[in-house]
Amino acid sequence: MHDKPAPSRTVAPETGHQAEPAAPRKKIFVKTYGCQMNVYDSARMVDVMAPTGYAEVDTPEEADIVILNTCHIREKAAEKVYSELGRLRDLKKEKSGRGESLVIGVAGCVAQAEGEEMRRRAPAVDLVLGPQTYHRLPEYIARLANGGPGIVETEFPAEDKFESLPVPDRRKTLARGATAFLTIQEGCDKFCTFCVVPYTRGSEFSRPVARILDEAKALADAGVREITLLGQNVNAYHGEDVKGGAATLGALIRDLAAVDGIEHIRYTTSHPRDMDEELIAAHAEVPELMPYLHLPVQSGSDRILEAMNRRHDAESYVRLVERIRAARPDIAMSSDFIVGFPGETDRDFEATLDLVRTVGYAQAYSFKYSPRPGTPAATEEDQLPEEVKSERLQRLQALLGEQQVAFNEACAGRIMPVLFDRRGKGERQLVGRSPWLQSVHVEDAPENLFGNIVEVEIEEGYRNSLRGRLRAAEAVVA
Ligand code: 5AD
Ligand code: SF4
Repeated sequence: MHDKPAPSRTVAPETGHQAEPAAPRKKIFVKTYGCQMNVYDSARMVDVMAPTGYAEVDTPEEADIVILNTCHIREKAAEKVYSELGRLRDLKKEKSGRGESLVIGVAGCVAQAEGEEMRRRAPAVDLVLGPQTYHRLPEYIARLANGGPGIVETEFPAEDKFESLPVPDRRKTLARGATAFLTIQEGCDKFCTFCVVPYTRGSEFSRPVARILDEAKALADAGVREITLLGQNVNAYHGEDVKGGAATLGALIRDLAAVDGIEHIRYTTSHPRDMDEELIAAHAEVPELMPYLHLPVQSGSDRILEAMNRRHDAESYVRLVERIRAARPDIAMSSDFIVGFPGETDRDFEATLDLVRTVGYAQAYSFKYSPRPGTPAATEEDQLPEEVKSERLQRLQALLGEQQVAFNEACAGRIMPVLFDRRGKGERQLVGRSPWLQSVHVEDAPENLFGNIVEVEIEEGYRNSLRGRLRAAEAVVA
């Protein structure tokens, strides 16, 4: 998964989960670090606590339970969590001085990696919860409320976490807007030598098609128009289909496109080795599938790709992009890059720049290599100095930045469908997403367009966004 800043999510105070809502008495605050999968997981932790009378709040000060949903993919993540825990320990003391209590939980990948160590270093922590067990949150909270000892749960239990979670509540989902994440696959069997994911999220697991369709229908009923299918290795998806066989991502996308109300579909993150013909064909044939693909390549050097255990070379990646573009000529490409992998020479780095020039990206994430404990690359001897990594990162980001600006500027004058999913700063300003995942700001937009897909004429492209105007009042396209 890639590490975009988690969008902030404000959810109206919710009451009970199903038919008979109980008035919320207690409050939960979940802080999300890292990737979109953590955003999804945080939402589901709130969902799973709702039937026990917990409503979500926006600050730790208001909360009875605080959960940090953590990310371990790159440097200093654990340190950040420990310093946040220091602040929470003080808050817990303050609250207990007032006769109030605070349960502190740490979930996600740092929790998985640190386990017992976390409670040793931060004794104020009551609960350490790996990503595979958050469906058991209500049970753990009940145990703690009954005066039970602190809990560390980092096993990968046999039961299916997803089966144990409620289908998203309609009203809650509504409050979350017109776009939603839907996790369809989790874990990874690829073992790239730099990456902790196979250790923190475990091996690949795909949810059955029927459950995903149920969740998509519930989301569509609640006003969601665009879903982003999530998985650490989403295109390795092989969930059980309705006939008991194994589905592919291409087939799943066709099924989802047939769900009433779902107008836009995206998926992330993909591995180049798992882009099969069926998925490429879906890009050609399914109009709901957006023309934007995040396909991480990490490096343009065959030597480094091999050392990373990426299982493909630079040329096969470039050819794959050509095939995808042949299927969907207007597709915009995005990627992740790592600079300063152990042993990376100037020549290797130049090969990465060459690949970027050849492919041409609309957007990309790039990172300095950061040794992750327990991964093979971390113990390589030829680690690079920080200055070399910084200098390469700067050069790569300059090139990617130029490509991004050029892509956005080239949108001026085009007319595109925009899904309005945020309110702007100005009175009548709405912000939406384009098919190419750009933010589009529109002035003088009536409120009733919120949550709809509308034709917008782009007037100008900037580095990180577009500005456009409505064409006609009747231009709602979905
Ligand atoms: N160092 C730097 N970047 C990393 N990523 C994953 N592990 C590391 C690491 N150890 C990046 C990869 C991946 C993205 C999610 O994070 O580019 O695609
Ligand atoms: Fe990590 Fe590689 Fe798996 Fe992606 S494919 S999650 S980078 S091991």
